[in-house]
This record gives sequence, structure tokens and C-alpha cells, in this order.
Amino acid sequence: MLAYSGGLDTTVAVGWLREALDADVICVAADVGQGGDFEALRERALMSGAVEAVVVDGTDEFAEDYLRPTLAANALYQGRYPLVSALSRPLICHHLVQAAAEFGAGSVAHGCTGKGNDQVRFEVSLGALAPHLKVLAPVRGWGMTREETQAWGIAHGLPVATTSTTGAGVPVKAPYSIDENLWGRAIECGQLEDPMAEAPDDVWERTVPPSKAPTDPAYCVLTFEAGVPVAVDGERLPLAQLIRRVDALAGSFGVGRLDMVEDRVVGIKSREVYEVAGALVLIDAHRDLEALVLDRDVLRTKRGLEARYAELVYEGQWFSPLREALDAFNANTQQYVSGDVRVKLEPGSARVVGRSAPGSLYDLSLATYDIGDTFEHGAAEGFVKLWGLPLKTWARARGRS
Ligand code: ARG
Repeated sequence: MLAYSGGLDTTVAVGWLREALDADVICVAADVGQGGDFEALRERALMSGAVEAVVVDGTDEFAEDYLRPTLAANALYQGRYPLVSALSRPLICHHLVQAAAEFGAGSVAHGCTGKGNDQVRFEVSLGALAPHLKVLAPVRGWGMTREETQAWGIAHGLPVATTSTTGAGVPVKAPYSIDENLWGRAIECGQLEDPMAEAPDDVWERTVPPSKAPTDPAYCVLTFEAGVPVAVDGERLPLAQLIRRVDALAGSFGVGRLDMVEDRVVGIKSREVYEVAGALVLIDAHRDLEALVLDRDVLRTKRGLEARYAELVYEGQWFSPLREALDAFNANTQQYVSGDVRVKLEPGSARVVGRSAPGSLYDLSLATYDIGDTFEHGAAEGFVKLWGLPLKTWARARGRS
């Protein structure tokens, strides 16, 4: 069973596994919302020499089982990256393992290189789900450059031609390696390897430059129920559709282009470029609503755990007991995270400008500086005295008078 994307590496991997191992290769591709022609993708796998090719319709499953808990966790790796690729790998592994059982396969293969994170995610996830399966990593083993890989493919009559493709077979200019799904789009390689060079215009697909965005601001209201976004401007949508809607809207305002240097699991720093408009807007809105309805201590503790959650997902530990435990904590906190968040869209920006919730902890009579104030001002005096007492004690002991 080969996890197949239709890109350069997995296409050549089909031919290579047949030739080097004399294996019957069955390709498994997953639709996780990347778009494209999956029938063409299946044909491409067969043209490459696979004996069978399976396309899994996984978009709703991806949204419900992977994005929903990740949004509850507001997970952003290194405070910025919403884990696009890191989230689809566990789903793909789940389906690889299922297909292996169906077809009676004893080995599973992925097309990841030896320098990336995805090899870690595939192998750790596969080990957690099916420790008995043998895992092959042909691309890591052959050690060819992208150009050499392409030449090998052409020499062996594989459909690699002179263009590479995105996950579902959409031709793109050759040098980039692209991974895309409902949560966003990741672009690497080519000119992006110079971290000082601005990403060329041709890397962007899901977003417009802010200069092409509408100049009149727009508002949108996102409704959450128990931590899950359920409606946009009052229109209820299934999660996957809602994410797509918000992504397209924010992307049309030039929101969501992320350019960063990130720390890979294998210890190298790499320059990565992402289009993640929907993910960033939803996380921002969700976080804002949490600030309104969650108790201060729960909120502080949760914020600390969110960074940990992002790290563990990034590092391939999706199927770990820690992720389950953190999900249980998050689920408990989400019961009160229901309400509306108003987002203002302007060229290049999406900002939360309003929020309301039935379970809001905002109490106007406590917060106001106007008439109607019920806050006990006198109580503040004693509180502040005791709050500052340890520092006063410290200062005296150190001889400050
Ligand atoms: N650096 C990102 C991550 O590790 C994106 C990886 C994208 N994969 C790819 N084959 N282009 O999650």
C-alpha cells in the first residue's frame, strides 16, 4: 500500500517499488479537501504501474475528527503555523492501515524524503495504529535530488513529464513541493529556499495580494456552539463547508499568507510559505470567544497547553495518549464556548471587532466606569496591600528602606 499524492516523488515511487522490490503496488490517495480531479489521479496511479488505486473521500472526516479538536486547541506551531500537513498524515495513515487489512498487504510505503517532518508523522502514526506492518520509505532510500527523480521517472516512462503536480494532479510550475488540504496550502522548495528572497507571486493560489482585495471593508459573524463554528452570517453549514467558506472569504481580502522559518522535527530550520486564511481567522475568532466565556485560570492553563498540543501534532504524536488527554481537557472547556464573533475584513487583515455569548463572564456592572458601577472599590485597597506584601517583605529583607 503506497500513500499516493500524484506528485513527483510518489509517482516515481510506484515505478521504483515495482522495479527494486518486484512489488505489486496499490496506491491509496485521500481527498482531504485539496480539490482536483481524483479520477485523473487514479488513472495516473495506474499509468505509473500500480495494480490498484483507491481514493478515499476523507474531507468530512478530516474536518470532524482532526480539525475540530485542533481548533478547540487553537493549535499553532511556533505560534504561527496551523499544522496543515501535520493533520492530514494521521488520517492518511488510518486509511492506509484499513486498506492494508482489506487487501492483505504486509507493507505500507510513503513518499517522504529523509529531511522532512512527514516521514516522522507517517512512521510514528503507522507504528501506533498497526505495529505489525512493515514500513517502506523508498524516496528516503534512493537519495536522488528532485531533478534526478524527474529524470528517473522520464527514463522509466512514468507520467512525470516536465511539470510537477499538486496533491490531486493539478499541474504547477516544476520547482515547488506543494501539500494542500481543507485547512490550508503548504509550499516549499525552489526559490523559497533562500529565506531572504520574497516568495514569487506564482506560489499563491488560495489568496489574493492585499492590493487586489476589495477596498470597502466587510464584516462577517461567526457563530460557535460548544467550541465548533456552525454558522457564517446566520447560515448554518457543515464544518467542512464552513471552513471552505471562511477560507475563501478571508483569502479574497488578502488574508492568510504566512511566510516563516520553522524548526523541523529532524533538527533543521526551513523556510516555509503557507496559505491559511480560514484556519487563522477561525482560530483567532475561537480564541476571542474563549476569552469571554472561560474562567481566568482555565484560560491561562489552556493557553499553555495549546502550544504543547501544536508541538505534539507537528511532531507526529497524533495517536498518543497525551493527545487524548489534552482533547479531554479541551472538550471539557468547550461546553461554554458558544456565541457570536464579529470579524472585520479589510485589505490584508481580518480582525475580531466584537463578541457576544450567552455564557459571557463580562459583567457591565463590574466593568463600567459610568453610573451603575457595582464593583467594590474599597475592597481593592486591602487586596492590593496583601498582593504586594511578598515584594515588600523581600525589599525590607534586602535592606531597602
Ligand atoms: N513544513 C510543513 C509541515 O511540516 C509542510 C510540509 C509540506 N509537505 C510537503 N510535501 N510539501 O507540516
